[in-house]
Amino acid sequence: MAVLLKSGLFFSALFLASILLLLSHRVISEPTQDKQALLAFLSQIPHENRLQWNATDSACNWVGVECDANRSFVYSLRLPGVGLVGQIPANTVGRLSQLRILSLRSNRLSGQFPSDFSNLKLLRSLYLQNNQFSGEFPPSLTDLTRMTRLDLSSNNFSGTIPFAVNNLTHLTGLFLENNGFSGNLPSISQQSLVDFNVSNNHLNGSIPATLRRFPASAFAGNVDICGPPLQPCNPFFPTPAPSPSSIAPPQGPSRRKSKKLSTAAIIAISIGAALVLLLLLLLLILCLRRSRRPQRAKPPKPSATARPATAVAGAGTSSSKDDVTGGSAEGERNKLVFFEGGIYSFDLEDLLRASAEVLGKGSVGTSYKAVLEEGTSVVVKRLKDVVVTKKEFEMQMEVLGKIKHDNVVPLRAFYYSKDEKLLVYDFMPAGSLSALLHGSRGSGRTPLDWDNRIRIALSAARGLAYLHVSGQVVHGNIKSSNILLRHDHDGCVSDFGLNPLFGSSTPPNRVTGYRAPEVVETRKVTFKSDVYSFGVLLLELLTGKAPNQASLGEEGIDLPRWVQSVVREEWTAEVFDVELMRHNNIEEEMVQLLQIAMACVATVPDQRPAMPDVVRMIEDMNRGETDDGLRQSSDDPSK
Ligand SMILES: *[C@@H]1O[C@H](CO)[C@@H](O)[C@H](O)[C@H]1NC(C)=O
Ligand SMILES: *[C@@H]1O[C@H](CO)[C@@H](O)[C@H](O)[C@H]1NC(C)=O
Ligand SMILES: *[C@@H]1O[C@H](CO)[C@@H](O)[C@H](O)[C@H]1NC(C)=O
Ligand SMILES: *[C@@H]1O[C@H](CO)[C@@H](O)[C@H](O)[C@H]1NC(C)=O
Ligand SMILES: *[C@@H]1O[C@H](CO)[C@@H](O)[C@H](O)[C@H]1NC(C)=O
Ligand SMILES: *[C@@H]1O[C@H](CO)[C@@H](O)[C@H](O)[C@H]1NC(C)=O
Repeated sequence: MAVLLKSGLFFSALFLASILLLLSHRVISEPTQDKQALLAFLSQIPHENRLQWNATDSACNWVGVECDANRSFVYSLRLPGVGLVGQIPANTVGRLSQLRILSLRSNRLSGQFPSDFSNLKLLRSLYLQNNQFSGEFPPSLTDLTRMTRLDLSSNNFSGTIPFAVNNLTHLTGLFLENNGFSGNLPSISQQSLVDFNVSNNHLNGSIPATLRRFPASAFAGNVDICGPPLQPCNPFFPTPAPSPSSIAPPQGPSRRKSKKLSTAAIIAISIGAALVLLLLLLLLILCLRRSRRPQRAKPPKPSATARPATAVAGAGTSSSKDDVTGGSAEGERNKLVFFEGGIYSFDLEDLLRASAEVLGKGSVGTSYKAVLEEGTSVVVKRLKDVVVTKKEFEMQMEVLGKIKHDNVVPLRAFYYSKDEKLLVYDFMPAGSLSALLHGSRGSGRTPLDWDNRIRIALSAARGLAYLHVSGQVVHGNIKSSNILLRHDHDGCVSDFGLNPLFGSSTPPNRVTGYRAPEVVETRKVTFKSDVYSFGVLLLELLTGKAPNQASLGEEGIDLPRWVQSVVREEWTAEVFDVELMRHNNIEEEMVQLLQIAMACVATVPDQRPAMPDVVRMIEDMNRGETDDGLRQSSDDPSK
């Protein structure tokens, strides 16, 4: 009984439904709005004649158009290879608000996308490959969060692939090959993605971990992309660097590199050959240099332990081997060691994967700016010729890691292995005093004004005094390229306390212009020799002249002696930086700072003030200005 009743109900329901369906067919048999959009599209875009849409017929019957079952909207539009030419007109296709599938592939469509594509909220598949679209990755597409297949391959797109691709959370296929996309690959993290191709673009940098599962051919044919599945990245590979002591403008080496590569890209095969040759050459040079250098380390013992740094550190280090304590246990211990209170969480792997850029090269090693995948920048200093044992190294690191002061660039982490010694510091985007003072003089840059120079002098003095008093650390390498700036123009001392790592083998304070006279003989840096170097730095701020610059009149004269000779002849004003001469009423302060500087560069170490005294002297100098209105009184027009 119940069964019969149920089936009766079921059939009547079915009957009702089919009547409704028929009715709706009759009533809404035409997607009127969509039809107008389509007609507008076809009338505005040049196309071949064989594409004919009969305006009196239902749009759902047209070639390439599919409607939903109720014929109430256009569900898909497929017009591959019908000779569409030029830009997609705005306010046409973008009005098909129910569209699920759009294929306009293999036409000659060009230019940019109309922005009203962002209305196609339900679009699931977009096939636009083999056209001539250009410009940036269309921003409207990252709003279409239902998208599963997106094919923009074989077009003329350029610019970067936006991180916002991650907004397309349902994506299963992303095809961007054969375009002109450049820059780094963003970390595209959809687990749903099964097909992915960015080959034959101009991408560079490392392949994000999230995309490593795709085959090498998905990344092939890019300018400078690395990491698995391709060849490993080699961020700390020594690239041609600027002369020691000068901080390179960040773009310098990389621009040179990309230029070289872009010409090479034209003849793709020759890059490979050239690179291999270059690598071999570098390997040869490094090996030669290494074998010529006297061996300071313990006699090498063979070992089978493979450590991450070996793979990464590159060509130069292959000849050195594990020391006696080396073994599999050491392999585990060779990790980045972070100091307390740090803000970073990355490991050696992340660091080695980061894209790196040479900041400067000095005699203790090369500094790199490393940009980690999550966008954090740090400075990595790769030390060479470290002579101390691991124990001694770690002890010194412990001392340096404790130093925390607003005017000291903090050491965040270190890494020690037989082959590789790395130090990790905060990256200071505002650059160094050296770059600010000497970089591109006269070419429209804003000169460093007097107030900022005083501010830098005082803040750097405070940092150095802190090192001496609280840290009990000799800086050992005070120079203008080691005074890094914050955005507020406060100076921070960096690169401190590294001399003990090199024994007496490396001349302390490598840049001659800053070196105290006694250091040349004793080869030992002291608190007092730091004060001397700081005095030279003050002279540099006052004169605008680099202490190791050849243009100090006679050859071989250093900055302190030059200043002394000029001051002795009573033409003091001549020593000051011409860029300061446009400021009025600062002569008195300049002379005061000059006196402090001259006290610091006294030949006899004991005659030099201690750093806390230097700080006080500079502070007192400023106090005169603010409290007694020294600057005001000289500004007084009645005077
Ligand atoms: C257009 O469609 C109408 C109705 O379906 C038909 O009568 C007419 O012949 C068609 N015109 C062309 C040119 O095919
Ligand atoms: C067709 O329209 C009816 C009523 O408007 C609706 O209930 C039904 O879900 C629609 N069918 C489809 C496949 O969209
Ligand atoms: C791609 O764009 C470049 C310039 O941006 C242009 O020279 C080239 O002709 C374009 N290629 C095609 C196939 O449109
Ligand atoms: C990505 O999605 C977020 C949130 O859904 C949105 O705020 C953002 O504007 C989207 N980005 C783009 C480029 O569409
Ligand atoms: C990658 O390319 C972009 C521009 O194309 C450039 O600005 C950037 O410096 C390059 N990065 C590296 C690591 O070469
Ligand atoms: C990516 O595209 C290139 C060029 O069209 C092709 O040779 C390669 O096989 C593709 N790789 C994958 C994984 O689809």
